[in-house]
Amino acid sequence: MPSHDVLIVGSGAAGLTAALVLAERCRVLVLAKGALDGGSTAWAQGGIAAVLDEGDTFDDHIRDTMVAGAGLNRRETVEFVVENAPEAIRRLADLGVPFNAESGALHLTREGGHSHRRIVHVDDATGWAVQQALIAAAKAHPNITLRPDMVAIDLVTDRHRADHRAGHSGDQSGSGRVWGVYALDTASGRVECFAARATILATGGAGRTYLFSTAPRGATGDGIAMAWRAGCRVSNMEFMQFHPTCLYNLEVKNFLITEAVRGEGGHLKLPPGVPGGGERFMPRFDPREELAPRDIVARAIDHEIKRLGLDYVHLDISHKDPDFVRGHFPNIYERLLGLGIDMTKEPIPVVPAQHYTCGGVLIDLAGRTDLDGLYAVGECSESGLHGANRLASNSLLECFVFGDAAANDILARWDVFPAPPALRPWDESRVSDSDEEVVIKQNWTELRRFMWNYVGIVRTNKRLERAAHRIKLLKGEVNDYYGNFRVTADLIELRNLLQTAELIVKSARARRESRGLHFNEDYPQTQPAARDTVLVPG
Ligand code: FAD
Ligand code: SIN
Repeated sequence: MPSHDVLIVGSGAAGLTAALVLAERCRVLVLAKGALDGGSTAWAQGGIAAVLDEGDTFDDHIRDTMVAGAGLNRRETVEFVVENAPEAIRRLADLGVPFNAESGALHLTREGGHSHRRIVHVDDATGWAVQQALIAAAKAHPNITLRPDMVAIDLVTDRHRADHRAGHSGDQSGSGRVWGVYALDTASGRVECFAARATILATGGAGRTYLFSTAPRGATGDGIAMAWRAGCRVSNMEFMQFHPTCLYNLEVKNFLITEAVRGEGGHLKLPPGVPGGGERFMPRFDPREELAPRDIVARAIDHEIKRLGLDYVHLDISHKDPDFVRGHFPNIYERLLGLGIDMTKEPIPVVPAQHYTCGGVLIDLAGRTDLDGLYAVGECSESGLHGANRLASNSLLECFVFGDAAANDILARWDVFPAPPALRPWDESRVSDSDEEVVIKQNWTELRRFMWNYVGIVRTNKRLERAAHRIKLLKGEVNDYYGNFRVTADLIELRNLLQTAELIVKSARARRESRGLHFNEDYPQTQPAARDTVLVPG
């Protein structure tokens, strides 16, 4: 039973930020389920929001965040994150992240919902630069052990103590303290038990619950599902964010076109050949036009696509100077050119796609969950920052601020974290391999398709009910598999996707209003008294 002081599941912005702080005083083990840079962090384009401009203020950043969040943000969280943002940027710069600068100051770009230029960035590939800097620092630290290709399956709790009487159970609610995780080594096929005094979930979002998502393949809600099964409350899962502008391309299905393209003057237009073809449509929907918050822009595009029977709309920045476009968006420019689209001369076909999971494991300002010894940070958590809709570029920021907060809380309270007891090894009785792997793939596709169709940008009671019914059937099938066959990475992910989908649908059905990212045609009005949707296990 490999034992470290602190175990972190996830090597993205949130996990590695926590690791670097903790490693100053203890030994840290970081697990990642594929490559260390396989999470969403490496894909982030636009940048990180922070008040750095003289004309900008914390109050303005707080207000913009809360306007986007449609009344559900927790103000103390918003203040905490916004006020810690400049310091987070300074630490990243110290790590060597080469933020764009102009005349001796950081260059700030603009995105929807922000009343000021406030986004620090590294060209149009900010996440890549941040992820590489964090990995380099973690690799160089003698107190950090990095283990890629390890898929965490479930949290290890008091129920898994060697001296606990009951057997292994799928439903672990009320399971007491957390001592670590069981994780599958995908190279050897063996399941190991990793124990630690404290465990941090930093597993990212659940975007791959949907057919079209900008998130990478591993965004399967693993941390949210694991925490729920262990007995943590999960909140606001109905608020799935759809980014307005994902490239429409039949082969490349998840390439994001950053919001900064609209921030720097890009226009959304109807494609030629339909009434109003070639014209901008956002002015008809919102006075902030292309720079309205994401939920509004995504719903407007969805509306126009359905109204006119389109496959996509156009995002056009070809009216700007070609050098300006190439200079600001070098990676997007190159990628599109490779697909035969010259964005300096022609519009880009775009559609909305799932992008961010606003809900997650309920945490407090220190990243603590409901279970002793367990923290959650980053996209897998629900801290109160985003409310009903995340403001662009606030999410990497949340990872840095909460990664730091959780690590400092663990260090400050070190005495309350006992050494782990003897724990049961993984139950190896499920030794046979399934001969129907294809069923797992089919179930995955079926789930993602009906979530897209029934639980997407516009919902109805009937569609939600249909989705709930299908999830129940698939869950039965997959639990049967899980109970009988040797676990594989695909099976673990499908089990978690189904759990997450169930939480999304349950939350969506519980919300009898429309607000932020959740729009239900049967309840189109916002109910001022409605609050967070908090699901309690069991
Ligand atoms: P991730 O970076 O997703 O990392 C998750 C980690 O958990 C990975 O290491 C993964 O391997 C590991 N993991 C998951 N499950 C398991 C398991 N079962 N076992 C072991 N390890 C596991 N936000 C912004 O603020 N600004 C932007 O410009 C921006 N652009 C974006 C562009 C794209 C295309 C996408 C998809 C997102 C963007 N976001 C942006 C959102 C932001 O990138 C993410 O919210 C953020 O990076 C999440 O970081 P994280 O550390 O929580 O998780
Ligand atoms: C983008 O670059 O448009 C993404 C920014 C974000 O998701 O915060």
